Amino acid sequence: MKGPSLNKLRSVKLSISLIALICTTLLIWAWERTPLLASVLPPSDQFDVRLGISSPVIPSEIPVSHFDFEEKQHPAEDDFPKAQTLAEPVTDVIQHASENANAKMALDDKGSNTASDKKKDCNYAKGKWVVDKRRPLYSGSGCKKWLSEMWACRLTKRTDFSFETYRWQPKNCEMPEFEGSAFLNRMQHKTLAFVGDSLGRQQFQSMMCMITGGREISDVENVGKLYGLVKARGAVRPDGWAYRFPRTNTTILYYWSASLCELQPLNQSDPATHYAMHLDRPAFFLKHFLPRFNVLVLNTGHHWNRGKLIANRWEMYVDGKPIADRKLAQIANARNFTVYSIVKWLDSQLPLHPGLKGFYRSISPRHFVNGDWNTGGSCDHTTPLAGGSEVTQDHSSDAVAEHAVMGTKVKLLDITAFSQLRDECHISKYSVKASTGVHDCLHWCLPGVPDTWNELLYAQI
Ligand SMILES: *[C@@H]1O[C@H](CO)[C@@H](O)[C@H](O)[C@H]1NC(C)=O
Ligand SMILES: *[C@@H]1O[C@H](CO)[C@@H](O)[C@H](O)[C@H]1NC(C)=O
Ligand SMILES: *[C@@H]1O[C@H](CO)[C@@H](O)[C@H](O)[C@H]1NC(C)=O
Repeated sequence: MKGPSLNKLRSVKLSISLIALICTTLLIWAWERTPLLASVLPPSDQFDVRLGISSPVIPSEIPVSHFDFEEKQHPAEDDFPKAQTLAEPVTDVIQHASENANAKMALDDKGSNTASDKKKDCNYAKGKWVVDKRRPLYSGSGCKKWLSEMWACRLTKRTDFSFETYRWQPKNCEMPEFEGSAFLNRMQHKTLAFVGDSLGRQQFQSMMCMITGGREISDVENVGKLYGLVKARGAVRPDGWAYRFPRTNTTILYYWSASLCELQPLNQSDPATHYAMHLDRPAFFLKHFLPRFNVLVLNTGHHWNRGKLIANRWEMYVDGKPIADRKLAQIANARNFTVYSIVKWLDSQLPLHPGLKGFYRSISPRHFVNGDWNTGGSCDHTTPLAGGSEVTQDHSSDAVAEHAVMGTKVKLLDITAFSQLRDECHISKYSVKASTGVHDCLHWCLPGVPDTWNELLYAQI
């Protein structure tokens, strides 16, 4: 008795499901056929879909009054090339800012609708440093496999490590707690590439330690060969490193490109050749491997000075010719021009690679006092946050970076202002070069500030 009635119930359920399925199919089919209807659907962020995060709804119009343009014209005093005054017509500026805001919302709205007003204002760069007993995220004496000795301050004579126990707390954004295996799951079958100078390499090493928790994981594969990252004959080290975590098939790589520009030897057969440094062309590595990346983090900054250019035998080129414009040939202008060019190029590539998310990391602050790196400058403070623990400004302290990404889909990883508060976190006199009296107030102790850069990156992918 029980059997037949149950079967009947099942078949009724089945037919209802079938009808529902057919209706849905028809509805979707109709949507795809009718552009008018389709345009009502929110555009989906391809990358987020691939990562399994619900697509954010991007409103087509954001009221202009949400954004304060005034502040952008009054950047904080800092050591970096001064912000350009906004030369663009005001309408352009509004347009850019509104696009920028759209991009920000796409990042910040992770599906939840609660406190959406708050999220509109979400700016990871604004907030404060707080003590957190769960920091650091790995041990500076334990992460031997990934940390360069010169950056592992636990291995030096430094005795004060109170700086390691701070966490960045953004004011209006959720910051997920970084967890290595969750990060790997999110990055399944994906590649994260850091391309930039030695500060980018620090971020790469930090990321490797954060993912592994600083523990030895024997099955991480060196896949540098797949990216041509092998040590050339006579070289001190390869131009970069690439490692794959086999469980999730996740690759993390770093490529050294201090200027992000294409470098072209001017005389192939001369070992002491000078190089054309093409300010309007991205490094060949970037162009070549971009299709393989899912997250790309670019940075440049500290190699933009005459000394480095001369030492590296780099000659600035634009349009395939040595720079003729003397104004552009000034270092600050050349750097700005390059950052704009590279960001524009990356932005132009994003639609061709829907699985790719591009970040430009703002400049990492230096903390030399009483001189520069080569004139006896130092950074002896050990008391954390002596100069304050909070960032309240809305604009980035790196105006070049902030303006370069405006109106593009390239995201700003804005780390400058909160890193500026951490003058006690540098290698300082404990650098390998300490014997010669040279202090390193540019690179950071690891664990340290670059871990926070990666937490911000994690929050934004
Ligand atoms: C930076 O470069 C962009 C694009 O070339 C230009 O519009 C802007 O005015 C420049 N800013 C500065 C400060 O030179
Ligand atoms: C690993 O991921 C890459 C994409 O990054 C993909 O091409 C490859 O097929 C994956 N390998 C395996 C074994 O799944
Ligand atoms: C290139 O370098 C080689 C070796 O130093 C030299 O013999 C040759 O003249 C150079 N060619 C040019 C065009 O300068």
